[in-house]
Amino acid sequence: MKTNLFKSKPIPSSEITPESLYLNRREFLKALGIVSAGSLILAACGGRTTTPAAGSPPAPTVTQDTTAPSASATTDELGDALTSYDDITNYNNFYEFTTDKAGVARLSKNFKTTPWTIEVGGMVNNPKTYSVDDLLAKFGQQERVYRLRCVEAWSMVIPWMGFELAGLLNEVEPMASAKYVYFETILDEKQMPGQKSGLYPWPYTEGLRLDEAMHPLAILATGMYGKPLPPQDGAPIRLVVPWKYGFKSIKSIVKIELTDKQPATMWNTIASNEYGFYSNVNPEVSHPRWSQASERRIGEAGRRKTLMFNGYEEDVASLYTGMDLKMNY
Ligand code: MTE
Repeated sequence: MKTNLFKSKPIPSSEITPESLYLNRREFLKALGIVSAGSLILAACGGRTTTPAAGSPPAPTVTQDTTAPSASATTDELGDALTSYDDITNYNNFYEFTTDKAGVARLSKNFKTTPWTIEVGGMVNNPKTYSVDDLLAKFGQQERVYRLRCVEAWSMVIPWMGFELAGLLNEVEPMASAKYVYFETILDEKQMPGQKSGLYPWPYTEGLRLDEAMHPLAILATGMYGKPLPPQDGAPIRLVVPWKYGFKSIKSIVKIELTDKQPATMWNTIASNEYGFYSNVNPEVSHPRWSQASERRIGEAGRRKTLMFNGYEEDVASLYTGMDLKMNY
């Protein structure tokens, strides 16, 4: 199935990835190789809190990735400028490392992302464990410029590189009984000091309804700004679901499982009244502790209005026909 992306606007030239941006697979893999290298917190991607005690990351064998960040687009399809590479890589939510946004890059610097495998199983006819290499060979990468709206009411515009999640799901053949997709982040407290905190039910988990997961806007991202994903942004592979709050876009995935029951997800387990299973961006449904009507775009002064489904309403609203979006927040 291939539907038009961005029904709301004509497909911008940035959606048609120039050949130069389909990175040569070998070069990309080479780059992957060199890159490889306590207080009560109940705000999903919550505000600044105590940084958990940092463990010592393993001794690095890291060579600097010296390729310059580049994107074919300069704006998203609404004409909004891309957030700078510097902001995207230095203002992060990745609680496995720290709850301090500015500290994630440093603490994750030596996170080992090769070798890496993702186990895809559950209610599928062809369960399989893939290496990131397999996935890149099979699905390639294209640039997708998406807005990312955090539930904390800040946002960015990010030129991801990746492929549609639907491609991978089709490959493993979901059984007719499968209704949901469950995702899990790596559990490795030696490398991820934040996982030593008993405040969270690690590993980080997320879930989507199967039809949401099959939507062509849902991607698995392996790169950003033409470079392999840096650890702080979810290397080597993460989910990106642009019409939902950022916490649904789970990082550093090692497991995908199809199921017939709505899966438990980390933030929903911690505070179901604040973080619903759906968590679609909705300016009309406030978080119990703050409004979702506006947001702060990183790199911009002032605030801007939050758009329904983060601006992807025409593309995704039909997934929720007949549902009460206030009840199913
Ligand atoms: N995935 C994992 N495994 N751990 C996290 O803490 N944070 C989420 C999401 N994915 C998170 C995660 C939140 S709250 C947001 S807003 C986005 O990642 C932030 O992605 P970024 O740091 O690449 O901007």
